[in-house]
Amino acid sequence: MAQILDGIRVRDEILSELKPRVAALAASGRPPGLAVVLAGHDPGSEIYVRNKVKACQDLGILSEKLTPPDSVSTAEVLAAVEQLNQRPDIDGILVQLPLPKQVDSKRILLAIDPEKDVDGFHPFNVGNLVANVPGPRACTPAGIIEILKRYGIPISGRRAVVVGRSDIVGKPIALLLLHENATVTICHSKTPDLAAVCREADILVAAIGRPAMITADYIKPGATVIDVGMNRIDSREDAARIFRNAPEKLASFDKKGNVLVGDADPFAMAEISGAYTPVPGGVGPLTIAMLMANTVASAERRARAC
Ligand code: GUN
Repeated sequence: MAQILDGIRVRDEILSELKPRVAALAASGRPPGLAVVLAGHDPGSEIYVRNKVKACQDLGILSEKLTPPDSVSTAEVLAAVEQLNQRPDIDGILVQLPLPKQVDSKRILLAIDPEKDVDGFHPFNVGNLVANVPGPRACTPAGIIEILKRYGIPISGRRAVVVGRSDIVGKPIALLLLHENATVTICHSKTPDLAAVCREADILVAAIGRPAMITADYIKPGATVIDVGMNRIDSREDAARIFRNAPEKLASFDKKGNVLVGDADPFAMAEISGAYTPVPGGVGPLTIAMLMANTVASAERRARAC
């Protein structure tokens, strides 16, 4: 039986370790502050941001949400970021991606003060990641390393295959695994015989955004599979196929009109892998925990600099 890597348990562990650090900051001046910019009405982003704000409230971090409309311009987002850069009570700035299409995302990410860049997306912090210099790391990749370490899954000397080359997950997780001395391969849509490459992996990270694409023939028996996908399925037929008519999944689909599935086939993971992160309840909760960790670390750094 494959071991389930429980992201909720690890998230709770991380958050309870952060609690005394937040309390110490509050006692010595002010609590950490996080500003989140959510432009427009992307339903997925709205859920992520709601969860981020709730995590702040539970932990005693001050949170502020800015919600410019879908029609916002690059100049308006830049002005909002500039103001947040100047605010002494804000330690972290997160601009939720994707931004509306008329907004120049690269310019926005470049405008965030690297000291307050709790996403680790500013080119200065991406450079720190490449050079293995301390600094904020992208939250989802940092959460993946955290869950592997906390479950005692060896990384050094192992073959890691990352499917997906996004700036948010694929590239940074490949670098973090490399810094942990894994032998890393990054695959993408142009990789020939993807299944054969994936079958070489001791650690397989699926971050493609394609529902249940990683099937049995992609997984080496006993491998660890990290499923970063969060795909909402709104066809009952697809849900029934992917979940093999599992009654609880179909009941949930009938109630909500959709069901969440990762990038890996859940049955293949359960039957073939040695350990895997479920969807939901795997990588998702860790992203938020690491955002809280980055915000607390930023507040501590800024308090020391005062
Ligand atoms: N959109 C999806 N994941 C993320 C994330 O980790 N940070 C931001 N800013 N936007 C996202």
